[in-house]
Amino acid sequence: MLLALLAGALLPAAPCAGQALEPLQGLDAYMAIPPANPLTPEKAALGKRLFFDEGLSADGKVSCAACHEPERAFTDARLVAVGAFGRTGTRRVPKLVNRGFGTSFFWDGSSPTLEEQVFKPILNSLEMALSEDEAVERVRRHPAYVRAFRLAFGSPPDRESIAFALASYVRTIRSGDSAYDRFQAGDMDALSVGQRRGLKLFRAKANCVVCHLGPNFTDEEFHNTGIGWSNGAIEDAGRFRVTGRASDTGSFKTPTLREASRTSPYMHDGSLATLDEVIDFYNDGGIANPYLDAEIVPLGLSETEKLDLKGFLEALNGRVADGF
Ligand code: HEC
Ligand code: HEC
Repeated sequence: MLLALLAGALLPAAPCAGQALEPLQGLDAYMAIPPANPLTPEKAALGKRLFFDEGLSADGKVSCAACHEPERAFTDARLVAVGAFGRTGTRRVPKLVNRGFGTSFFWDGSSPTLEEQVFKPILNSLEMALSEDEAVERVRRHPAYVRAFRLAFGSPPDRESIAFALASYVRTIRSGDSAYDRFQAGDMDALSVGQRRGLKLFRAKANCVVCHLGPNFTDEEFHNTGIGWSNGAIEDAGRFRVTGRASDTGSFKTPTLREASRTSPYMHDGSLATLDEVIDFYNDGGIANPYLDAEIVPLGLSETEKLDLKGFLEALNGRVADGF
């Protein structure tokens, strides 16, 4: 338990909206926050405690942070997730930076809100593997938690307030202030000449920007790039599982590219080990399959162009902030 470590992290009661988060260059100042769960420093601090609490897992070893490691932009270095008792999941742990700007959650978008999403890993038998009652009971057992919930919510911990606190903390996890953001703000020297060429490629010849767009480099949509297909079949049907539409077979949510160069491996199944492999993958036009997105086509990039593109992606590493 990290209770002791994080004790004292609670700030005095002063409810404030999302705008109170420290601004980070390059990010939207506005974050849509559900009116039912206004973002307050008390909730975020409490959510942070819960996020690092291994006691919320069946074997007492797996906190949210065990998979979403703060020093790796809140992902880990594995191909797919490993949860309580060493149980292996089927998908790669996504970064959590800037998910407060997201419009759906999980690789297939099966969760519509963070409030709904954040309790699921606690219940997932391959992740933290607790029952709802057990999870709530474990939190209620600690007087420090009970006090903190009273301060943040005015009531004892229950499933809803635990989820609200975790969602509030996740909203504070952001990445901005990158070299690219400084360049966009007018500092022409923030990108090298090669990185500027890479930016041009990203926006034109390499076609990345059609999906990886906006301040967070994602359209929050689902696309089939061919990742996961072999011999004309795919095990994980992705977005199809949510919509049941054949055309969504093998589509996954476009991830942010912020912090990408330091968060390998890549893709929902961790199947690409390096950014060079990612760029080669796109340059070859993805993996052929019946539902391949029309925007995934061979790019004809030269070796220099590939290096420039990679250089540009490296300019998207910035400052990862969490909490208030
Ligand atoms: C065992 C590893 C593991 C643990 C523990 C874990 N997660 Fe995750 N997390 C994942 C994986 C894998 C996914 C993607 C799953 C999918 O798409 O089906 C994910 C997805 C998410 C997402 C959605 C991100 C997005 O871009 O859609 C959020 C938010 C999240 N986790 C928060 C949490 C919180 C909060 C906790 C603790 C209560 C937690 N996770 C515990 C592995 C883990
Ligand atoms: C048609 C939309 C589309 C285009 C065009 C596109 N991407 Fe992607 N990108 C995605 C989707 C969807 C994923 C996740 C695929 C998966 O995991 O199955 C992804 C994943 C990635 C990842 C892995 C991120 C992570 O955290 O795992 C990187 C890096 C990336 N793309 C870079 C690029 C670059 C560079 C280009 C241009 C050469 C590009 N993308 C073009 C949709 C697109």
